[in-house]
Amino acid sequence: MLYPRYPITILTSILYILCAARAQPRGDKYLLGVGKADVTGPVVEIGMMGYASLDQKGTGLRQRLFSRAFIVGDINQPNNNFVYVIADLQSGDTAIRNGVLEKLRALYGDLYTQSNVAIVGTHSHSGPGAWLNYLLPQITTLGFDSQSYTAIVEGIVRSIERAHGSLTPGYLSLGKGLIQDANVNRSPYAYEANPESERASYEGIGGQVDKEMTVLSFEDESGKPMGLVVILLLNWFPVHGTSLYNNNTLISGDNKGLAALMLEKDFGGSFVAGFSQANVGDTSPNTEGPICQDTGLPCRYEDSTCGGKTQQCIGRGPAFRISDTESCRIIGEKQYLGAKAIYHSPGQASVAGDGGVVRSFHTFVDFSDYTFQLSDGTTKKTCKAALGFSFAAGTTDGPGAFDFTQNDPDAPSNPFWLLVRNFLRAPSKDQVECHKPKPILLDVGEMDKPYPWTPNIVDIQMFRVGQLAIIISPGEATTMSGRRWKKAVGKELNNTGIVSSGDSWIVLGGPANSYTHYIATPEEYAIQRYEGASTLYGQFTLDAYISLYKKYIPYLGATPPSTPIPPGPSPPINTNTSISLIRGVVHDSPRLGKRFGDVLTDVTSAPYSSGNLVKAVFVGANPRNNLRLGGTYAAVERNNGGTWSRVRDDTDWNLVYQWKRTEWLSGQSEVTISWTIEQGTPAGKYRIKYYGDSKSPFTGKITAFEGTSGTFRIGSTRTTICLSYFIIRRYLYSISLPTECVLMEPYYQG
Ligand SMILES: *[C@@H]1O[C@H](CO)[C@@H](O)[C@H](O)[C@H]1NC(C)=O
Ligand SMILES: *[C@@H]1O[C@H](CO)[C@@H](O)[C@H](O)[C@H]1NC(C)=O
Ligand SMILES: *[C@@H]1O[C@H](CO)[C@@H](O)[C@H](O)[C@H]1NC(C)=O
Repeated sequence: MLYPRYPITILTSILYILCAARAQPRGDKYLLGVGKADVTGPVVEIGMMGYASLDQKGTGLRQRLFSRAFIVGDINQPNNNFVYVIADLQSGDTAIRNGVLEKLRALYGDLYTQSNVAIVGTHSHSGPGAWLNYLLPQITTLGFDSQSYTAIVEGIVRSIERAHGSLTPGYLSLGKGLIQDANVNRSPYAYEANPESERASYEGIGGQVDKEMTVLSFEDESGKPMGLVVILLLNWFPVHGTSLYNNNTLISGDNKGLAALMLEKDFGGSFVAGFSQANVGDTSPNTEGPICQDTGLPCRYEDSTCGGKTQQCIGRGPAFRISDTESCRIIGEKQYLGAKAIYHSPGQASVAGDGGVVRSFHTFVDFSDYTFQLSDGTTKKTCKAALGFSFAAGTTDGPGAFDFTQNDPDAPSNPFWLLVRNFLRAPSKDQVECHKPKPILLDVGEMDKPYPWTPNIVDIQMFRVGQLAIIISPGEATTMSGRRWKKAVGKELNNTGIVSSGDSWIVLGGPANSYTHYIATPEEYAIQRYEGASTLYGQFTLDAYISLYKKYIPYLGATPPSTPIPPGPSPPINTNTSISLIRGVVHDSPRLGKRFGDVLTDVTSAPYSSGNLVKAVFVGANPRNNLRLGGTYAAVERNNGGTWSRVRDDTDWNLVYQWKRTEWLSGQSEVTISWTIEQGTPAGKYRIKYYGDSKSPFTGKITAFEGTSGTFRIGSTRTTICLSYFIIRRYLYSISLPTECVLMEPYYQG
């Protein structure tokens, strides 16, 4: 059932606000800093990152992307610290992290290093791509784009600089709670391969997915909130950033990016909210489950196919009858309200331990052939990276795009693929043996021409402050993988006497630092759905990680071992050698007799009201000319006694910027700015603003310009009356709508 959830959400949110009495826990005192900066790269013409769909190129911007940095330092020894960065990206990445660390070294010497900086992606599938280190994820973006890469590296560094600049003594506290109806398991058939007794022990926190959200709050000495890090499931919150599908071409941070902006707008000021991804691997925000789009029948349970093909089997979000944008808003809002409720809930645990020490470790390990012992004493090993056949099939959040590797005549022709496919090689006999029972589709770990296709060298990293330990996972751990990993780490923290089992809080953040695809349990691996087929280093991938994270746990203690952890082999950095087939902006020109920013289609003069869409079309220019980081392409202004002030910008979900090339040769383009007027928007006079930058065909010089729509009026709000009609009509009687509500109906249709 779809509808009863809305009233419940509204009611619970009112309850949260009424019960906003927060306890004031105090533990050890730390040095704390939070900072945020814009990382929105090119919003048009660049392939988007996540679905690996050649056709999914940006056409505009719904909501800007941000990096949020959280620093925790030992107040007595500020060099002992960690920086947890949450960025609205598909994942962390080796080249991005390398670029960030190079800049941090220049700024701060050895304060922020390989060991204590983690970069975690929110796993949005709606951001620009072409910034990744390895070749495989570059294929569907036609290579590497330095503008996309630089926006991210510089934005992350800026967020860390701001966090560093805000360092102040303060306290940390921990809370947790369950978030209902915001995630489901999209590979239950694989999940069910895990032992029954193990599955039964997690029924209380969601069963097939972790529904528990862990909230770490930062407060300065006065008790003023600075920011929250919210990570889902047994301890941060796991849900895929795939509320928007691969047919969405507007840049946004999907449900977690939206949740963070909602909480920040709610708290106001310089408050920073980080919604970290967790053991996201097999989770989906499409909570109504998959269905065959063509027949309306259920998909085949074992392999999510319809009539033998994956393309038609798509997971549906909570508002699938309205739109995927609305589903995204609902999943974002649930996380926002959940985090806020947990923050305000009584019974927070204050963070303390060992007099306020802060610890971290990091090392690189080559997983081409890493040998280790399982707890039963048997020796196992990992293998060079490889992807199985089901990788090409994709998931119910987005069908596979790598079908073209299987000589599908209908597959899109990709010039980048034509260029690199000659480097494909057949897996060696050892490699085939090592990956069993995975049938190898792409032997990526044995391919380093023209440069490496996927990582073989992985990041091993953990942080600890007081009773909180953070596992930094360089890939998408599935629900059960995350649980096993956290359990093993918790046990080792207890056995080494660092944090006892009864006190510890253990969370997992990822995909971080490098994108190593998936980490499934050996039982899920045996099933070889998408997550198992994308577990790069063989069936013992998870166990290898667990053995390494356990091995280095003593480095999280009050008195770490005196021999430092060896840094391990350095991964290759491919930014300077990566291929790019992405074309730059040639130039812009306005159409004959017009200037940049001129209005082509204006707003109408009839009054608007909540739920209406108001839009204007302008003579545009390519937004790749200037990313306007920290600024905006689109705005709404309201007239207050004669002066105009900005009330909406690129951080608003309902204000959308779209760009379209209308004439290639002369470089003409149009920009459409549209705003769906929110409930409760005050009556008054408004106008739409467009901020652009054009590139001269003669000199290449880039010049800023503005466009302004005509003035429009938003009438006194009929929202409440119409809303009552809609509710009565949907749930009780079939009544006819007053004419003034008919205009608003499309917005409510379900
Ligand atoms: C995108 O695809 C989904 C699933 O097929 C569909 O429900 C939705 O309407 C599409 N959205 C757009 C914007 O075309
Ligand atoms: C925690 O460690 C103590 C002391 O080493 C041990 O007695 C206890 O069994 C451990 N608890 C768990 C749950 O492993
Ligand atoms: C790539 O080139 C830039 C500019 O020349 C240089 O600063 C950087 O160190 C190079 N990176 C690598 C990994 O070689």
